[in-house]
Amino acid sequence: MDYAHARHAGNAGDVFKHVALLAVLQELKPASYVETHAGDGLYPLGSAGEWGDGIQRLWNYSEGGLVGRYVDLARSFSQPGAARPEAYPGSPLLASRFVEKQLLYEIDRQAASVLRRALPNADVRVEDGLAPLAPADLVLIDPPYAQKQEWTDAARAAARIPDTPLLLWYPIKALTRPRALISELARLGIHGTAVELHWTPLRLKRERLNGSGLVFSHIPKRAVSAVCAVLPALGPALQTHGEWGSVVIGF
Ligand SMILES: C[S@@+](CC[C@H](N)C(=O)[O-])C[C@H]1O[C@@H](n2cnc3c(N)ncnc32)[C@H](O)[C@@H]1O
Repeated sequence: MDYAHARHAGNAGDVFKHVALLAVLQELKPASYVETHAGDGLYPLGSAGEWGDGIQRLWNYSEGGLVGRYVDLARSFSQPGAARPEAYPGSPLLASRFVEKQLLYEIDRQAASVLRRALPNADVRVEDGLAPLAPADLVLIDPPYAQKQEWTDAARAAARIPDTPLLLWYPIKALTRPRALISELARLGIHGTAVELHWTPLRLKRERLNGSGLVFSHIPKRAVSAVCAVLPALGPALQTHGEWGSVVIGF
């Protein structure tokens, strides 16, 4: 496993994912929460990193609403008044503000032990998060997509919990795999809405993400609408080349 999320913590993909997660947690108020790929929980940030094009862009956001609540949460992990984020809370830490019962899978031993320190009350299991996946009040599937197979594995895992409220994150560098993922989910009987935010034009090929998407399945419409409503705030803040775009697909 040669993926370490620390390099990416607080990037634009995290921002979009965590704003959406916050919207869903607020609306759904789940009693039980499962994450298939939990990460470290809390990421100390160095003086430069992908967070500079992510959470830093919103650090001084002052317009309230969903984005404001997310930024306030993120700020609460740095010293009051800090000019830049000093640490970034991952999804399990954000979820812990809303849910007591967390089952967190993290395959990397070292990441899992950092996660246990961050969340001593969570049930952290060092194993593949997709294989044992079972229904809960909310499931987040968030693979690193370091290998092509992870796209198929994520769709198949989702299909094993067809009636479960689900959030599934995916990266966008081109549209081929994202569209194949949505077709595969529909073919397997999983339906919902995919919402994408593109912060770098797809014609530009870079090392980093051009955007990311989230599949919402069995998630209240109000939460999905709340995410769509903040795209005009997130897009301009996160865009890297003077333009941004969004796509909403019902399937
Ligand atoms: C994108 S990061 C998770 C970030 C986290 N969900 C968040 O938003 O803060 C992916 C994590 O999955 C872990 N991982 C990779 N393959 C896994 C697997 N099969 N099962 C569980 N964890 C896995 C990696 O070690 C990494 O920490």
